[in-house]
Formats: sequence, structure tokens, C-alpha cells
Amino acid sequence: MPRVYLETFGCQMNELDSQLVSSQLRTLGYTFTPESDQADVVLYNTCSVREHAEQKVWSRLGELALRKARQPALVVGVLGCMAEREGEALIKRMPVVDVLIGPAELDKLPGLLDNALRTRASLLSDESVQELAATPEDEKPDVSRLRSARQVALHGAGSHGTTNRRSSTLAAAADSLELLDLSRATSPDDHQGSAYVRITRGCNKFCTYCVVPFTRGAEVHRPPEHIIDECKRLADAGVIEVTLLGQTVNHYRFEHDHAVTIDGVIQPQKGRAYTHKHGIHHDPYKLEKGEHVTSFADLLHRIHEQVPAIKRLRFVTSFPRSFGDDILQVMRDCPRICRYLHVPAQSGSDTMLRAMNRGYTVGEYLEFIDRARSFLHQPEIGRPLTLAGDIIVGFPGETDADHQATADLLRRVRYKNCFIFKYSPRPGTIAEKNLVDDVPDEVKRRRNNELLAIQNTISDEVSRSFVGQTLDVFVQGLSRKEQKAARKVDASGACSTSPGGVALTVGGVALSARGKAETSTDAAAMPSVGADAGGAAERRGAVQLQGRTEGDLIVLFEPPTGVAPDSMLGQIVRTRIDHASALSLFGIVV
Ligand code: 5AD
Ligand code: SF4
Repeated sequence: MPRVYLETFGCQMNELDSQLVSSQLRTLGYTFTPESDQADVVLYNTCSVREHAEQKVWSRLGELALRKARQPALVVGVLGCMAEREGEALIKRMPVVDVLIGPAELDKLPGLLDNALRTRASLLSDESVQELAATPEDEKPDVSRLRSARQVALHGAGSHGTTNRRSSTLAAAADSLELLDLSRATSPDDHQGSAYVRITRGCNKFCTYCVVPFTRGAEVHRPPEHIIDECKRLADAGVIEVTLLGQTVNHYRFEHDHAVTIDGVIQPQKGRAYTHKHGIHHDPYKLEKGEHVTSFADLLHRIHEQVPAIKRLRFVTSFPRSFGDDILQVMRDCPRICRYLHVPAQSGSDTMLRAMNRGYTVGEYLEFIDRARSFLHQPEIGRPLTLAGDIIVGFPGETDADHQATADLLRRVRYKNCFIFKYSPRPGTIAEKNLVDDVPDEVKRRRNNELLAIQNTISDEVSRSFVGQTLDVFVQGLSRKEQKAARKVDASGACSTSPGGVALTVGGVALSARGKAETSTDAAAMPSVGADAGGAAERRGAVQLQGRTEGDLIVLFEPPTGVAPDSMLGQIVRTRIDHASALSLFGIVV
């Protein structure tokens, strides 16, 4: 059976898509390799949100074109947003690509991949083609026959052509993508105690800079029954942490009176249009009297009550508008719902927010943050609210005053971390069509660096505020440093065995030989703050693990003496934080 290499770019939604397609391919007998050059099939699950992510894929495809001349049987697939956005123009530019599948068509991958492999094999068994494949690249006459293995499944025509988004009836009736979510494998090999669960696909917001509504299509909410059932199945398989996914997760809404059932399966449901035409205070999410609706608050509550084996329930990404007190109340009253919100502001300037079509003002954003804090920030009981955000610098027309307003917003909100992106025009978006990208790159870079510096100081202070506290940590695996060291050892061919000669792995990742000074903890390598930084020295030589608090802060720690690191994976352990850096807390298991 062919070996597959699958690389994922971009967001958590893409990570989930990759998990779903790989478990589907595995059940069909495909095997996976972590090394691209050992694969018969190379798949890229791509992201179009920023130009940078796309550039990486273009350069990977360029490398594959050279490789395919040496390995003509290689099958290359581009999945996800870039496939959808570029459409067949992608194949024109990169004829190396055999399979092109948009994010709304991923369920078709097994069929199309099988076709591509068969067609390619039969083309290659043709003697003349074999000859052709053996001919040096610059002497090749025509490779068009080799290219006809192509398999394409796109939802629309990409943003270069007309977008052909599904009507609501069609979306409801023909939602085969729902089957991909429903058929997910839940064996312990497919997770390490933690899993994503999609609740909403697509987005209706049309922020002017954003390509997502074009690539992922209109907002579609999954039936609550399917979501809860998936959570139950995951919990039965040992998952104790679930992250619900949606582009605007708090806008989840399922109207039972309008539910469509086909062959006994409740179909996902199109979301409501999000427009400002009824005025800024119009809220399409407000319940009308007598409506039978599962709101986001209801969904959270139902999962919390019906699947108590899930010890941590969180969700991303929140939209700052229409985040009602009902959700905050459920978060406050349900102990297993994490007090963490990723709620991008994008800018601290009203002018920019308007140009971005975000639908709220800075004042309204801050009102929401204060409201969320008043419900959920309780450090005195060990449950502070932590916040994460996204900011775009250098959006068209952004002045120094707008930029300063964003710096003020960072100082006022005090995120534990905030992603800061330089604006890049995305083809087909409203901003790309109507606005001039007039902020020079060096200005974008300077503003980006200024905001990063401000945020770094804040992250450092937020981290420091946890020193001395006892926090529950969900154990994810080896720290990044350990993983890097393990990779280095693997690559150098050195043996990855413990000093006693026994292979040491954590979650399948081989560990480097212990006791070497250069594999000391991040604690020794990074500037640290707080008490007891000297503890690092005595910990040298032990394995360093990484976990997350309910507020998504990274905690690095070592297993207690005599405890096998593997036995801690996917579990929640209690740690005392003894020092901190801007990026990590350093804990001791208590
Ligand atoms: N340029 C820069 N950043 C962007 N984002 C989305 N579109 C763009 C763009 N065109 C950022 C936003 C969003 C995050 C996922 O990516 O901050 O929240
Ligand atoms: Fe893009 Fe805006 Fe939708 Fe987020 S809410 S995915 S930024 S259009």
C-alpha cells in the first residue's frame, strides 16, 4: 500500500481536517511516514489566510517538481484553502500536482487519490512513458500524458473565478462532509487524551481582509446530537480534553424547528446572514419567543453535563460580538469549562475596525472583555481568566495614531499572548479589490515589532503572576526542546537509548540519551524570572515534559522520580509553579 506524507499548514481547523483524512486513509490501508522523501504520496493541507503560508507551499511544490522527474510515480495532492482559492490555476502553475481538493470536499480524497494512483501507475506502465520518464528533464518532449492523472474536487471555482457557494437546501441535503466528521476514528492511537471537535464550518462574517468565507464557504452548524455523540465517543476512547472549533464559535446556533433529516441523519444547518443593515445592535443570534434552538451556551452546557469524562472543555475562536452573558454564565457555573478565550480584536482603532467590517467598536470590544473578566476572573480561587488575541498591523490606511490606539488596546486588555500579523492582501477579498495596500512593508515591520515588544512585556508579567501558584496541567508530551534534541539524535544516526541501553520514548518520540548538559531544560537556556531559578541545575538529566493549564499557558516540568513519562501523557497533573519566562511556566509536580 502507498506510503503517505501529510503536512499541515495553518490553523486548528486544518489540523482537525488532516486528522480526519489521515484516519480515513489509514482505515483503507494507507500507511504514513514522517519523512517526505520516503513517501509515494505527498499531501499538503494548505492555508490561504496569509500570503506567507501560501509561499511556503509554492516553494515545497517547486521542490517536488524536481523530485518527480526522478520519481515519476510520485502522486502529489494539494488540499484545503489554497486548492479552493487558486482552483485549476494552481495546476497550471504547478503541473506536478495530481490531486486538488478544497476544504469542503475532503471526503472525496480517498476516491480521488485512488484514481490518481491507478491512472499514474497505468501511464507509467506504458513503455513509451517509461522511456519518457527516464529522459533527462531538459530533453523531455512533452509530458502532457503524464499530467492526465489529475483529480480535482472544488466547491466553487476559486476566488479567481466565480464563487459558486452552495444554497442552503443543497448544503443541508448533500452534506457528505458531515460524514467525514461522523466517521472519525477514536482509537487511542488517534489522540493523546486531547481532541478537536468541529461545531461550525465556514464563516459568514466577510471581514474585508479575510479569505475564509471564500475558501471554506458559508457558515454551517452541525447538529448538537452529532457533536455530543462525537464527544462521548472520544471520551470513551480516553479523551479528557476537547476543544470545540468554529471560525466564530460563539455564534453556534441550531434551529430544531428547521432541521432537515435525510435517511435518518440530521443534516447540518446553514447559519444566519450576518449583516449590519438592521443597525449595529441588531443581533441575529437573539432567541425569539418559543423558538426551539440550541444556542452555543446550551451546547456547552449539554456537553458539560452529558459527557463528564471530559475534564477540560474549551473552544476557539470567539467573535467579540454577540457573546452573551448566557455563555459567560455557563462558563462560570461549569467547573470543567476552561476559563480561556481566544477573542481577536484585530485593531484598537475604530476607523480600522470599520474598514475591516468587524461590526464592533473598540469601546464595545473592551466592554466585552470587562464583562468576561467580571464573570470569570477569579484568581483567588485559582481560576483566573486568560485571554489570547490576534492583531493585524498595516491594514490599508492605518496611520500612526491608529497604530498607537492598538498599542493602547494591548496594554489595556493584557492578553497572555497575542498573535500579530502584517496585513497581506488576499486575492478575491473585499480589501484586496477595493483598498490600496498603502502601508509600506518597513512600516508594517516596525509596527509589528513594536507591538510584539509591548506584548512580550505583558506576557512576561502575566506568566510571573503565576509563580507560587498550584495549577493543574494537562500533559501533552515532550517539551519542544526535548523533541528537537530527539530529532537531532535521530538525524545523526546516534542511538536513542537511555544510558542503560533501553530505548526511551514518550508518545512515540524517541528520547536522546539522558544526562547530557546540552539537553538541559529550557529553564537553563531561557531567561527566567521569579524564585528558585537554580532548581534547573538539579533537574538536568531528567526528561522534560510539556503541558497546558486550563488557561492555555505552557508549563514545563519533569516527571517525579520513578514515574514513567509515558504514563503521564494525556493526564492532568498538579504542579507548583516555581519560576516563569514570557513563554513558559516552570513547575514541579506536587
Ligand atoms: N493579512 C494578515 N493577517 C490576516 N489574518 C486574516 N487575514 C489576514 C490578512 N489578509 C489574521 C487575522 C485572523 C488570523 C487567523 O489571521 O488576525 O484572526
Ligand atoms: Fe475571517 Fe472574519 Fe470570518 Fe474570522 S470572522 S474567519 S477573520 S471573515
